[in-house]
Amino acid sequence: MARVFSGIQPSGGMHLGNLLGALRNWVAYQHDHDAVYCVVDLHALTTAPDPAELRDNTMAAAAMLLSVGIDSDRSTLFVQSSVGEHAELAWMMECTVGFGELRRMTQFKDKSDRSEFVSAGLFTYPALQASDILLYDTDLVPVGDDQRQHIELCRDIAERFNRRYGETFVVPAHVIPEAGARVMDLQNPGDKMSKSLESAGTVGVLEEPDSVTRKFKRAVTDSDNEVHYNPDTKPGVSNLLGILASATGRTPESVADDYAQYGPLKADTAEAVNELLSPIRERYAELSSDPGEIARVLAAGADKARTVAAATLNRARDNAGLIPRSPA
Ligand code: AMP
Ligand code: TRP
Repeated sequence: MARVFSGIQPSGGMHLGNLLGALRNWVAYQHDHDAVYCVVDLHALTTAPDPAELRDNTMAAAAMLLSVGIDSDRSTLFVQSSVGEHAELAWMMECTVGFGELRRMTQFKDKSDRSEFVSAGLFTYPALQASDILLYDTDLVPVGDDQRQHIELCRDIAERFNRRYGETFVVPAHVIPEAGARVMDLQNPGDKMSKSLESAGTVGVLEEPDSVTRKFKRAVTDSDNEVHYNPDTKPGVSNLLGILASATGRTPESVADDYAQYGPLKADTAEAVNELLSPIRERYAELSSDPGEIARVLAAGADKARTVAAATLNRARDNAGLIPRSPA
């Protein structure tokens, strides 16, 4: 069975972009793939979150993954820092990736432009991400469009390591969903939807239905009052069409044919999104009352992950000329 790996940062509430761009695909893969999913708390450290918040957000992210339908009997679900191999292989990845390659990463440019303090970890973030992926002999990495560049770099790193030291890693491919790959901000449809959940442009997965409906009602469109799909000339309307299409399993073009006005399009999109979110909210509330269960799932997941990761790390260490950690 092909292996799928993906990760998500524990950085506060999840939004509709995470759900449509990534998490829904993760759920689909677990039926016919060997799926490994990870809450990447070490990546979150790159921006020095408050410790108590990081801890809470890590558990909340795990609860969210279980709520959207990740099934711990089918998939391996764990927290990155629980498997020490990630940080260790990341060093080897840092020694394989070029400074110039890291400097070209657009996510680094965006994030460093917005931060007062730019950690070295923020710069080497893609090396840790490559470590995450390569440790599990991953074939496929389902992510949203914004991660394309990181996965391409991961492939380059794997190929370079394999050339330098002999066949060590499986070279992975990314998979980006057709609909939902880029959910845009409802107020600024030129920007992708992102974490700040207080914003009127972001829809949280756990947001109350009334608030979701209000945000869609106020979504920015344009003044030519025609419904058709063209993300370049009609970003706001196209974003609504994309969301409704993704929520209902259709294409944005065919959805556009059903509407002549913006009002009904907004109302139907809000309704479809609320329908998608309501069972997730319910499961999340149930799970939140049982933190012991989440901890048990994560501990079992980390044990399973460690077995695979340790074998890959040993192969990489050995091929690169590091001596065995303990006598065989
Ligand atoms: P992040 O929240 O940045 O950790 O991203 C977690 C996953 O959600 C990644 O696979 C991203 O590509 C995906 N993602 C984040 N924001 C969006 C968005 N606005 N539209 C589609 N996918 C997204
Ligand atoms: N960098 C990814 C993001 O911001 C999260 C991530 C970390 C990831 N490690 C990964 C995604 C490995 C896919 C595979 O969304």
